[in-house]
Amino acid sequence: MSLVLKRTGQKMPRVGFGLWKVTKPSCAETVYQAIKAGYRLLDGAGDYGNEKEAGEGVRRALAEGLVKREELFITSKLWNTFHAHDDVKKAAKMQLGLWGIEYFDLFLIHFPVALQYVDPSHRYPPEWWGDDGKVHFANIPMYETWKAMEELVDDGLVRNIGLSNCQGSLVLDILQSAKYEPQVLQIELHPLLSQEPLVNLCNVLGIAVTAYSSFGPQSYVELEMGQGVPSLLQHGVVSAIASAHGKTTAQVLLRWATQRGIAVIPKSNSVDRLVSNLQCDSFDLKEEELAQISSLNMNLRMNDPATIDPRMAIFA
Ligand SMILES: NC(=O)c1ccc[n+]([C@@H]2O[C@H](COP(=O)([O-])OP(=O)(O)OC[C@H]3O[C@@H](n4cnc5c(N)ncnc54)[C@H](OP(=O)(O)O)[C@@H]3O)[C@@H](O)[C@H]2O)c1
Repeated sequence: MSLVLKRTGQKMPRVGFGLWKVTKPSCAETVYQAIKAGYRLLDGAGDYGNEKEAGEGVRRALAEGLVKREELFITSKLWNTFHAHDDVKKAAKMQLGLWGIEYFDLFLIHFPVALQYVDPSHRYPPEWWGDDGKVHFANIPMYETWKAMEELVDDGLVRNIGLSNCQGSLVLDILQSAKYEPQVLQIELHPLLSQEPLVNLCNVLGIAVTAYSSFGPQSYVELEMGQGVPSLLQHGVVSAIASAHGKTTAQVLLRWATQRGIAVIPKSNSVDRLVSNLQCDSFDLKEEELAQISSLNMNLRMNDPATIDPRMAIFA
């Protein structure tokens, strides 16, 4: 199953594989196994620090004839320190070089936050902080960065461009001057943060939505965040629905999104779990089950840069 992207008509798989926190030593093998299992979308980012290894996994799969490049949909993201017009292309080219590929199928602005440039030879990925442990902002408006993203399309370096971690007001603002509309918005989205108004806006605008952190707090446990937040994978409502369908709670959480036309990109370091996550589209939830899961919404956001520095309260 896939979503058709508006401007290019390119098909974006509805279930992809997320690469955040896939460790460097395991990444090439995990990417290879994910492709072997049937994943065709890989969701990477400069910030994940594993682009070279992910590219190795891709090259092995290509060399063994498991897939052709054009059957894969490779996403990456522009980090906050590369928002200046000329830095966007430099970063995209460097990232393509790390992956060892000619083009990205999708390139996203990772966060609507512009930070001071950090030379990759000094530190890569640059992360949020300067050498002094503080966050240093750069005065670069989003429309400047978006214009440079559009040039990546014209140069053939990327096929589709989009946004991540943006709210409705910013999406609408980008549209005011865009030559190419954002084709995808990638956002934190799970039953505890169902984001219905933003999804509705994207549906009206023809922007595909990709959900990240579909399992809610689970992804943040390994970062020692989210203690005390109810687990979605063990939630009574989700468990009861999973039992009724003979599925796992993870599959139910993913299906809750995909059945509403939202793409998902679950990450797992375990081959068994990544295989079962991919099988989440093999059953349908009833309308009342979708509604029951949606009613868990409490606008609980796990990934908010304001926790790093209050000047980055992009969701306020
Ligand atoms: N645009 C952004 O700012 C942004 C932010 C966050 C994430 N993302 C993207 O979205 C992807 C997915 O989000 P995410 O990594 O935050 O979280 P996620 O996929 O919701 O959750 C990953 C966590 O769930 C566990 N898990 C995976 N499958 C499971 C299963 N079937 N049963 C039980 N546990 C399972 C994983 O552990 P194991 O690995 O041990 O299985 C890991 O701890 C990322 O990898 C990244 O590509 C984007």
